[in-house]
Amino acid sequence: MASTASALQLQNVLYEKKGPIAYVTLDRPKVLNALSQAVFSELKAAFEDARDDSSVRGVVLTGSGDKAFAAGADIAEMSTSTGVQAEESTRHAQAVTELIENLGKPVIAAVNGFALGGGCELAMACTIRIASENAKFGQPEVKLGIMPGAGGTQRLPRLIGKGRALQLILTGEMINVQEAYRIGLVNEVVPLANLIPRAEAILNQINSHAPLGVKFSIDAVNKGLDGSVSEGLLIEASLFGICSGSEDKKEGTSAFLAKRAPQFQGR
Ligand code: HXC
Repeated sequence: MASTASALQLQNVLYEKKGPIAYVTLDRPKVLNALSQAVFSELKAAFEDARDDSSVRGVVLTGSGDKAFAAGADIAEMSTSTGVQAEESTRHAQAVTELIENLGKPVIAAVNGFALGGGCELAMACTIRIASENAKFGQPEVKLGIMPGAGGTQRLPRLIGKGRALQLILTGEMINVQEAYRIGLVNEVVPLANLIPRAEAILNQINSHAPLGVKFSIDAVNKGLDGSVSEGLLIEASLFGICSGSEDKKEGTSAFLAKRAPQFQGR
């Protein structure tokens, strides 16, 4: 399918749309795709476009080159910031992770190398993480006299459990992809050459289903994890009710009963 050039003026992030998939690529390979404030602003613009473009059904987030997804926040930039500036920039980075996490469409992190500090945090905000065999993960902030600030203290324990999360955060240790897979930080490990094709295959499989069912499933999991089980169940029941009133539910159930493939419209 033809590629649509982005109208956005971005310097540090590549943004491209091909058919139903948008590709967001961190593009500062000389500094291992370090996440400056400009990168976070450009990620915000790209993901807002992907969210608002109804032709986009899912996003692949990856890094340029074959060495890094992102080696964390830009340490040169961080080295001169005051406490007040750092609090502000962390809130900015956190807002971007929340945008990605609650985009209403699946976002696959295709981790193609180092995912450290803010890089690991960005990957954790994605719906699904797959990684190449050379990928490495860690939260090395304590080695720099700081701590995770783009959601690491919240998303890491939710993904891999409190004990393992605290060990990674407090030791600053870097783990290889097999260990990341073993502890559930990544869903799949694939050869680097298969990384983007596998991300596309997962998105295509998800995209064959009803958009509302996909969107509300993501919402129910995300919002449910923010509160108690009974609050989560209430959210699930409400969203289930909305899905069940949709035209796509009529189509999905009648297609099943008529033994034919469903044609979902997203309504
Ligand atoms: C700025 C960085 C960088 C970073 C690497 N570079 N990581 N620049 N910020 N986070 C630069 C290096 O200075 C170097 O520039 C070039 O990229 C290549 O890196 P090398 O260190 O030479 O590569 P290598 O020896 O292979 O080591 C790879 C590495 C190491 C293990 C990933 O670069 C590293 O430890 N990076 C820092 C990782 C880190 O601490 N991240 C957490 C940041 S704090 P030159 O000019 O020498 O070629 C954080 C907080 C998030 O993320 C808070 C929320 C926003």
